[in-house]
Amino acid sequence: MKNIILRTENLSAFFGKEEVIKKVSVSFERNKVTAIMGPSGCGKTTLIRTINRMHELTAGATISGKIYLNDEDVSSMNPILVRRKIGMVFQRPNPFPTMSIFENVIAGYKLNSISLSRDEQNSIVGIPSTRRRCGTRSKTSSTARGRFFPAGNSSGFASPARSP
Ligand SMILES: Nc1ncnc2c1ncn2[C@@H]1O[C@H](COP(=O)(O)OP(=O)(O)OP(=O)(O)O)[C@@H](O)[C@H]1O
Ligand SMILES: [Mg+2]
Repeated sequence: MKNIILRTENLSAFFGKEEVIKKVSVSFERNKVTAIMGPSGCGKTTLIRTINRMHELTAGATISGKIYLNDEDVSSMNPILVRRKIGMVFQRPNPFPTMSIFENVIAGYKLNSISLSRDEQNSIVGIPSTRRRCGTRSKTSSTARGRFFPAGNSSGFASPARSP
């Protein structure tokens, strides 16, 4: 068990009465990449959302079985701390709607009280520093709110799906 960082025991996930993950027992090794594969709708996303306790945020969604992170029962841990250790990348860009794209990209630093200079923030978001900026980019391109474009657009917005 030393090399197992995460494991599930008879894990089931339900939407109402619908059991979409059925008694899954799986182990994930430390410092290894594990791929979960299967046809659309088989429950890959639900499995990850169950493991990091996002599943329980959906109305009517429940689980049975156990999840252990480093042998600690995830159900007794603070869910915010669980999600810090078990992050996930959403299938579609999922920015906080009340923030600009710039603020979305920087949000993780702010929430963790990591202070950054404006140039550091620009570098993380992918905007040239003020000294190097040539002046052709619209100042509002990444600070406008409420307009989001899918990854791969050519609008000049920094999409979370394409940011580092
Ligand atoms: N919020 C929800 N309410 C009810 N049923 C849901 C909900 N989200 C997912 N489901 C159902 O749970 C099952 C598993 O869905 P899930 O999204 O986990 O599949 P997936 O393997 O990630 O699919 P894909 O490859 O398309 O991303 C599907 O039958 C889906 O319709
Ligand atoms: Mg999915």
